[in-house]
Amino acid sequence: MDPKVPREPGRTLGPERRLRGLVDQEPDDLSPERGVLGDLGNRLGPKGRFLVAAAVIGAAITGGSLAYERYTTTAVTGVSHTNPALVGLGHSLYDQNCGYCHGIDLAGQPGWDGSFPDGNRPAVPLDGRGPIARLSDRDLFDLIKYGGQPFSPPSYKNNMPGYDSSLADADIWAILSYVKSKWSEETLARQRELAEQSGS
Ligand code: HEC
Repeated sequence: MDPKVPREPGRTLGPERRLRGLVDQEPDDLSPERGVLGDLGNRLGPKGRFLVAAAVIGAAITGGSLAYERYTTTAVTGVSHTNPALVGLGHSLYDQNCGYCHGIDLAGQPGWDGSFPDGNRPAVPLDGRGPIARLSDRDLFDLIKYGGQPFSPPSYKNNMPGYDSSLADADIWAILSYVKSKWSEETLARQRELAEQSGS
């Protein structure tokens, strides 16, 4: 702007001053070709425009697939260890909530099969190495939702925490789907057998 001509508020600008840049333009002057986005596009150049477009498309795909994963798994009311979306969601939830005690590889804490007369058993393996097949899907669900204590004698201190307040039911089913996706055919069959026998 010419420093000798002070700009007065409300004064109409001459055509040559209108071209000086966005700051001097009245809103009416923002024609589509010279609009904010057009100007940004010109400054970025073709490569910049491509990168911005790629970033926007990438973010849309990521957001979309996460939303889709959530959408397809919120209505879940049981284990489906062959459903990749459910197993994928369960995998991240397991790593965040359970891996700390049960191990990222589900192998449990060292010494889990020792004798612990006073309770305080370490976290047991969830990969089928321990006697986990004795528990039906519903038993497993309840154990995770309410913790181990309600299912133990009062004299026994069970250190498995409950997730009632921090995980939705669908999240717990997703975690179990992930856990069972790590079981051998043998463990899966054993659990089915025992569940049929006990009628659960
Ligand atoms: C603070 C450590 C800790 C965390 C975190 C934890 N657990 Fe446990 N969990 C244990 C312990 C300890 C036991 C064994 C309790 C006992 O038998 O005395 C156990 C037992 C279990 C059992 C019973 C297995 C069996 O064969 O008896 C299941 C299933 C289980 N946990 C699943 C989970 C899942 C799923 C998560 C994550 C949502 C989780 N746990 C988080 C400590 C933990």
